[in-house]
Amino acid sequence: MLSTLDLKKMKQNGQKITMVTAYDYPSSKHAEEAAIDMILVGDSLGMVVLGYQSTVEVKPEDMIHHGKAVKRGAPNTFIVVDMPFMSYHVSLEESLRNARAIFQETNAQSIKIEGATEETLHLTKRLTEAGIPVISHLGLTPQSVNVLGGFKVQGKDKNTAEKLLEDAKKVEKQGAIALVLECIPKELAHMITEAIDIPTIGIGAGIHCDGQVLVYHDIVNYGVDRLPKFVKTYGDFNTQGIEAIKTYISEVKQGVFPTDDHSF
Ligand code: KIV
Ligand code: NA
Repeated sequence: MLSTLDLKKMKQNGQKITMVTAYDYPSSKHAEEAAIDMILVGDSLGMVVLGYQSTVEVKPEDMIHHGKAVKRGAPNTFIVVDMPFMSYHVSLEESLRNARAIFQETNAQSIKIEGATEETLHLTKRLTEAGIPVISHLGLTPQSVNVLGGFKVQGKDKNTAEKLLEDAKKVEKQGAIALVLECIPKELAHMITEAIDIPTIGIGAGIHCDGQVLVYHDIVNYGVDRLPKFVKTYGDFNTQGIEAIKTYISEVKQGVFPTDDHSF
């Protein structure tokens, strides 16, 4: 299993870091067998496997439930679990309590939080001091989709780009071990990646990040019907899954399955 130090060394050595989401036992088993560097139990699980409208509906219990399953499927892989919507904004005490539960009960290696407000920066410092490695997430932060006004590319103008660069330096200063950059121009991601010593892991943030992250179900085209521009699919579970079930149905209807081979 990688350590936080290994991640920094990979950046220094120019070795790309790979991350994929997983939400359950079979997907995390696939990820570990494929030798991924890091698994993210993303709060995207709300949409991807629970059918919610956005990540806003996800609760700490969901993250813990799925995080535990992922850990069982990938016991030897670095696992990051998202802190879900509003679980780290009410008070420092409540944030620490939720972080403790999510980190300790899932036995993860790190937790991830969105944004770089005074509040989340202080939380990053406190969690780091307490021994919980924090990964920051900047750019398009889906938990704020209702404030941002949609899933749009962030940091396109000079002011917002400068703010993102400053925020990246701030999260590093508070102890974040890595930074996820979502949906920002590739030149900006490049600048940020060069300006900080912790690895950047991009999604819709171009080639210059130190690593990349994609959603498992997007990579294998599984259950998703609309893919964002930044996704590349490498498989087609939708077609294969539906075809397999169709063939099964037809063989049962025709009395072709089960044969003696499948019988006792
Ligand atoms: O929840 C998630 O899948 C994420 C990635 C998009 C980085 O946060
Ligand atoms: Na997330």
